[in-house]
Amino acid sequence: GLSAAAVLSRRPPATGAELRSAVPLPLAFRVPLPLPSVLKPVSTSGGVDRYEITQREAALEILPGVRTPMWTYNGTFPGPTIEARRGRPITVTHRNELPVPTVVHLHGGRNTPSSDGYPTDLVLPNGWPDPAHTMHGMRGMHDPRAVVTRLTRDYTFPMDQRPTLLWYHDHRMDFTAPAIWRGLAGLQFVRDDAEESLGLPAGRRELPLVIADRAFDDHGHLHYPALDPTLRKQPGVREAYVAGVLGDVILVNGAPWPMHEVDAARYRLRILNASNARHYELEAVTDDGRRLDLVQVGADQGLLAAPATHRSLPIAPAERYDVVIDFSSVPVGNRVRIVNRLGSGRTRDVMAFRVARKAADGSRIPRVLSNDVPAWRRSDAARVRDFSFRAGRMHGGHGWLIGGRPFDPARTDVTVPLGDVEVWRLIADVHHPVHLHLVGFRVLSRSGKQPLPHDAGLKDTVSLRPGESAEIITRFDGYRGRYLFHCHNAEHEDMGMMANLEII
Ligand code: C2O
Ligand code: CU
Repeated sequence: GLSAAAVLSRRPPATGAELRSAVPLPLAFRVPLPLPSVLKPVSTSGGVDRYEITQREAALEILPGVRTPMWTYNGTFPGPTIEARRGRPITVTHRNELPVPTVVHLHGGRNTPSSDGYPTDLVLPNGWPDPAHTMHGMRGMHDPRAVVTRLTRDYTFPMDQRPTLLWYHDHRMDFTAPAIWRGLAGLQFVRDDAEESLGLPAGRRELPLVIADRAFDDHGHLHYPALDPTLRKQPGVREAYVAGVLGDVILVNGAPWPMHEVDAARYRLRILNASNARHYELEAVTDDGRRLDLVQVGADQGLLAAPATHRSLPIAPAERYDVVIDFSSVPVGNRVRIVNRLGSGRTRDVMAFRVARKAADGSRIPRVLSNDVPAWRRSDAARVRDFSFRAGRMHGGHGWLIGGRPFDPARTDVTVPLGDVEVWRLIADVHHPVHLHLVGFRVLSRSGKQPLPHDAGLKDTVSLRPGESAEIITRFDGYRGRYLFHCHNAEHEDMGMMANLEII
């Protein structure tokens, strides 16, 4: 086995060993693509839409014929999709019937601090001791600013932001990665009239695609190294945890390597990488080996100014891409496979589309998509800050640190006056997808060069590659209070790679 010290004596692991499933897996492209159900509000009075979500355990059929116990929002994986309108606030009442405390974060939301899902703002399940009244609280549980509730919590979101695809997921301190792995993730759209009038593919020609890898043990339960002490003794598994957990099964909307029938027409794909640690580089390949264009119309924080055409598209954990694919050139009966160029063997396939019929297509991709992508310039910046994202030691073991320090809820790392523009220079040792809460940002440069084509638009997560530095620029507007920035490799986040951002 590998001790933490043995792991530490090496270079930081760039990629973890992939966990192998011990249960028979289905052939690719046999399972139909599920579409997450859309949640109905329980009331819509007073200009606010109210929703209710129960967090509970459920045994789901992820692999055909196999029941997998998961942690869910309303009994499904992904959780139900919330459809919000720009400027119309929503309140989501979450009820925690899981065996552990939870925290909900709406990723990419311009959230007020009290509903941002700070990692110590726990919702305790019934019977769980209040961390303020017990001595065996976990690290960070004595955060004096934490607002802890029991059983339920109302999260209110102003939805005062550009239309885009957001996602909600667990954010509990030190335990985010296993909670997401077990199923605590769902989608939330923000829409508005302007976007809907563009004529982009819509209705059943707009598909959310939540991509996430998992591994299954011989009972069909999810493999997760940190929850199974025996696993840590197997060679490579400790490293798998430290580097970020990778599975050998690729799920899209909770189904393994699914298949979806489409018309020979344009489709708008709203892609989220909800994986803990896996990076993908997606391409669309026809049966006769042609690559279809991926026409990007939006980034994490909404529409680009103009469409950008890619042959392949890298996507890091937590990133979203809004992409149009045109299937009209594909003969009826043929398939288009979505392939992960970074994968090998099983993890090379993601899903497939089968072109089922010819059909009329009234959609279009306008040359101008939006005119409100902020164009901050370096000269707008009140200051420049530097942050390193590197391996290091934490509590005597392996950690992932920002600026040499592991996360501590009691320490303010950065204080920014509300409304200031800043440039942040981020530097990484290995892959780190860096996410800022509250704000969207632009990527200014990568290692001193121009940003990459897929860095276009307004982002909330930037994927730093090994040894790379990137400059981002943003205006810290919104609300005063305590927010976060962190690596969105979920295991890195749990191992300390997170910091506090205080807007004053
Ligand atoms: Cu998607 Cu702070 O998280
Ligand atoms: Cu990281």
